[in-house]
Amino acid sequence: MAYTQGMLRDDALQNKTIIVTGGGTGLGKSMATYFLTLGANIVICSRRFEVLEKTAEELRELTGGQVLCVECDVRKTDQIENVIQKTIEKFGQVDGLVNNSAGNFISPTERLSYKAVDVVVDIVLRGTYYFTLALGKYWIDKNIKGTVLNISTTYAWTGSGWVVPSAMAKAGVLAMTKSLAFEWADHGIRLNAIAPGPFPTKGAWERLFPEELSKKFSFENRIPLKRVGDHQELANLAAYLMSDFSAYMTGEVITLDGGEVLSAGQFNFLNEVTDDQWDAIEDQIKNANRNSKKPE
Ligand code: HXC
Ligand code: NAP
Repeated sequence: MAYTQGMLRDDALQNKTIIVTGGGTGLGKSMATYFLTLGANIVICSRRFEVLEKTAEELRELTGGQVLCVECDVRKTDQIENVIQKTIEKFGQVDGLVNNSAGNFISPTERLSYKAVDVVVDIVLRGTYYFTLALGKYWIDKNIKGTVLNISTTYAWTGSGWVVPSAMAKAGVLAMTKSLAFEWADHGIRLNAIAPGPFPTKGAWERLFPEELSKKFSFENRIPLKRVGDHQELANLAAYLMSDFSAYMTGEVITLDGGEVLSAGQFNFLNEVTDDQWDAIEDQIKNANRNSKKPE
């Protein structure tokens, strides 16, 4: 067994229809691919229709599954409602939603225009609550026990400089996840989230680690487990959270980051201390202990 392999049984998502926003690229595409192999019908939506069409064709060939693609800017409620309508026309109903679409780029915050902040917050936060609200109304009306998975980030809790609009928006998404998990539990609707560490994708790497940066900093070295994530690892967790195997879990945020977020631990800088230095440090501390036992 390896973490690069699928984890769930082949029919884990049989008869479920799942909408994956931003499913034409990156992690959304990887999750959509795995959901298809587990028997789900998949709807992918985002702004660039040609990208969606190309991915849909590729996924149909790869998995033999059913894929619908619909153009949608998640900041536009009429376009969201159109996705839901088209999904119901083709598959009969909607069972799950993965809020995966995002916009992000690194920048000193004082360099941002108001519009630059808005564009990221609107895609991430507004897009997520619009889509969730539209489906929640439909699920409650039709008495469907829907499932939502929100793709967040670890800095939604810790905060992070240089990605402030994204941090603000992802934090709002977490607040929504936990709040609605409680409120909509009465309707059998579940909401969970994943906070991924670095998983290489073209979209994220071009905007967050352009060459100027990637030449200087290596992600792998900063991560306790010394590697970036593999897309299948994230797809495995996402599939579990979208399946009935996680039926007792709601309002949860699962971090999948090789321990990266733990680097906030106050003494974690000690990972740079050598064995020889530890010998000297131990001697110094034991000396200090002995001295403190002597009368003043
Ligand atoms: C300063 C910038 C900028 C930059 C854009 N802007 N890039 N300002 N520094 N590097 C400003 C523009 O000048 C403009 O403001 C405003 O932002 C909107 O820019 P547009 O290009 O007109 O917007 P648009 O074409 O809608 O593109 C949206 C986008 C873009 C968010 C800017 O990056 C995008 O399409 N992203 C989608 C995919 C993505 O971001 N994927 C990465 C997700 S990764 P003015 O005022 O000049 O008009 C992620 C993971 C994080 O979230 C964790 C990783 C470990
Ligand atoms: P990505 O490939 O750039 O995915 C972002 C997707 O969002 C794209 O498919 C894009 O498609 C879509 N999108 C952007 N604006 C949209 C809009 N207004 N309406 C609808 N769709 C829109 O990057 P990724 O790395 O796979 O990111 C996927 C998710 O993982 C994001 O939520 C991101 O924050 C999260 N994440 C990623 C990492 C990582 O290391 N990769 C780490 C933590 C969290 P269009 O351009 O066609 O619209």
